[in-house]
Amino acid sequence: MTSQFSKKSEAWSARFSEPVSDLVKRYTASVFFDNRMATFDIQGSLAHAEMLQAQSIISAEDYAAIQKGMAQISAEIESGQFEWLLDLEDVHLNIEKRLTELVGDAGKRLHTGRSRNDQVATDIRLYMRNAIDQILELITQFRLALLDLAEKHSDTILPGFTHMQVAQPITFGHHILAYVEMFGRDAERMLDCRKRVNRLPLGAAALAGTSFPIDRLRVAKTLGFEDVCHNSLDAVSDRDFAIEFCAAASLIMTHISRMSEELIIWMSPRIGFIDIADRFCTGSSIMPQKKNPDVPELARGKTGRVNGNLISLLTLMKGQPLAYNKDNQEDKEPLFDTVDTLVDTLRIFADMATGISVKPDAMRAAALQGYATATDLADYLVKKGLPFRDAHEAVALAVRTCVERNQDLSDLSVEELQVFSPLITPDVFAVLTLEGSVAARNHIGGTAPSQVRLAIARLRQQLSK
Ligand code: ARG
Repeated sequence: MTSQFSKKSEAWSARFSEPVSDLVKRYTASVFFDNRMATFDIQGSLAHAEMLQAQSIISAEDYAAIQKGMAQISAEIESGQFEWLLDLEDVHLNIEKRLTELVGDAGKRLHTGRSRNDQVATDIRLYMRNAIDQILELITQFRLALLDLAEKHSDTILPGFTHMQVAQPITFGHHILAYVEMFGRDAERMLDCRKRVNRLPLGAAALAGTSFPIDRLRVAKTLGFEDVCHNSLDAVSDRDFAIEFCAAASLIMTHISRMSEELIIWMSPRIGFIDIADRFCTGSSIMPQKKNPDVPELARGKTGRVNGNLISLLTLMKGQPLAYNKDNQEDKEPLFDTVDTLVDTLRIFADMATGISVKPDAMRAAALQGYATATDLADYLVKKGLPFRDAHEAVALAVRTCVERNQDLSDLSVEELQVFSPLITPDVFAVLTLEGSVAARNHIGGTAPSQVRLAIARLRQQLSK
């Protein structure tokens, strides 16, 4: 029997009088990157075939043959035996061709009532749903590791900075919890994006729908989609969900990058607040003393490519008329690269969080420099009746004197402090200590160790749900 499919390079050949050049073939093919969606392509095809059979569009025998053929194809792909052919352009045509080789006409009937346009959109959504679930799990693991670190150091004091200048003492646990909050918002964004990913385009066919009596809701249910895409043109041309995902990924990498920057600074011997386990660092080929924080540096660097992928997708979509255009094939590599980068980065950071060792003495020594408790002294004067602006001025003068004498506020005697305000009495020293300062910030969101512990308990409870 002759058919258009018998010549493997020309799926639509009857319409054409000459074959495409090798260069064009290579230029237009996507199989060498889109074959990573193979399992989702098969999953989508099986759901489609099941529906075709239920609607009496294909026979039960054809459906059984398709199931059998697909099982073999899955096994071939898994074992690495499947031969991917550039001539067959993409993952969809490669699998369909092999199916036809294996089961004959039943394979040729699979594409009834669908197009690669709705097929590829379905595959990407299935792939992304899977990726999002993996990412959500990794974010949870990372947050749990950060919670352990925060818990261990809910009492450890270090200087908090604004403008990179010593501002006020804070607890290290509180600092780490700031990141737990950020990554919590990231998880919310991914979950929200998942809702819009999880809709079925199949049934839109090329762009207008199909003349066959299909049951889209049945396919949606089989594939675990929450709904169908409600407009066929939109279904095949929409890539909003991929852009949303990349935007959410960019924010995650932005948070990772900020954290990396801090880890790098903290690990610098000039600061020496932390050490990072050797397995995340490398040495120098020339300087024997070096131990470099390669992982956070690389993560900071990789944020650039993830941001770049977002811009690629936005630019890809901005000029496209409805409905499907071949441009869309370019959505995959930025998307896959984003998933790969994010998954690797989150996995490594979840592990690295367990390999951070804190040096409380260095943190404490730094907090004792830079008049971190000056605000506490001002607050003390306010509580004794002085208007805040006057208190601010009195303490500013005291700090100035200390700077000139190279002393800390707590080094001054009560008599010396009283020069700046007669309201000062010996109880002042309780507020000038680092412990007094952090313990006083005892409200929701404050840095007091007791609040840090409450926050950790609340977050652990959220994460166990
Ligand atoms: N490889 C294509 C893609 O990735 C599949 C859809 C192609 N459709 C078409 N009519 N050329 O988007």
